[in-house]
Amino acid sequence: MTSQMAQRLDGKPLATTIQGELKQQVEQLKTKAGRSPGLAVLMVGDNPASALYVRNKERACEKLGIASFGQHFPDTITQDQLEAKITELNQDNRVDGILVQLPLPDHLDAIQALYCIAPEKDVDGLHPSNLGRLVRGERGLKSCTPAGVMRLLDAYQLSLASKKALVIGRSILVGKPLALMLLAANATVTMAHGKTPPEDLREFSQQADILCTAVGQPNLITPEMVKPGAIVVDIGMNRIQDEQGKNRLIGDVDADGIAEVAGYLTPVPGGVGPMTVTMLLQNTVASFEQRFYEQGRFDP
Ligand code: GUN
Repeated sequence: MTSQMAQRLDGKPLATTIQGELKQQVEQLKTKAGRSPGLAVLMVGDNPASALYVRNKERACEKLGIASFGQHFPDTITQDQLEAKITELNQDNRVDGILVQLPLPDHLDAIQALYCIAPEKDVDGLHPSNLGRLVRGERGLKSCTPAGVMRLLDAYQLSLASKKALVIGRSILVGKPLALMLLAANATVTMAHGKTPPEDLREFSQQADILCTAVGQPNLITPEMVKPGAIVVDIGMNRIQDEQGKNRLIGDVDADGIAEVAGYLTPVPGGVGPMTVTMLLQNTVASFEQRFYEQGRFDP
């Protein structure tokens, strides 16, 4: 029997196209503003996954001509010191975007630190003011991963209106903002999370036209949980060792099995990941442009 395989929702070529457009935009804006856009990524401690993400972000900035003002702090840094650094960057006119890489070590309060970022420089869209704008349907800086998911779905012209969407995971980084964005696109949204009983998760997922998972649990979603023809968006990032002892990145879904049931599937890696970085660059350029036009000029 030959079954129709799911279409891959490929983030890489789309990310390359958008980054190419942003590069041109940066060049034009640089001429007008007399300086490059600037992004500060703050990282605390030695979480290897975070270090890799931060490196990727800084490399992507470099390719586009965005200046990096990031800093890496030892995990002995105090809350006051971290907040003082954020305040300093808020006042630094060369810096258009500030991102605190999450998770932070346990002794630091991420929610409190996010309050300190000036909302107009909050390129992660995690300040209460930007999250509040999202809830109210106002314009504002939007969280990068969910914004990347929406852009990817849009590029493949997948209509979401009146469809049943399930979002699994309720973090402020992904699950909650994604649910709000799907709602804004007129989907009927259900949220599931760690306290959703497995039998309920199965029932909701079997009904979902759009199934998004951002949990960090390999094989959480198996083929029999997927509605035939559904759009499956895998936002999980799990580093595992395969049978040959090689490190591999996999998502939350059984990709091989689900490819035979779903209509569309984002690969891991190469699906949502490249879109996240791209949306960060886009937010940084948008913040640069907004500040340029608001101030009429940039202060030196
Ligand atoms: N950790 C993993 N992904 C992200 C992200 O997009 N932003 C921040 N701040 N931390 C992360």
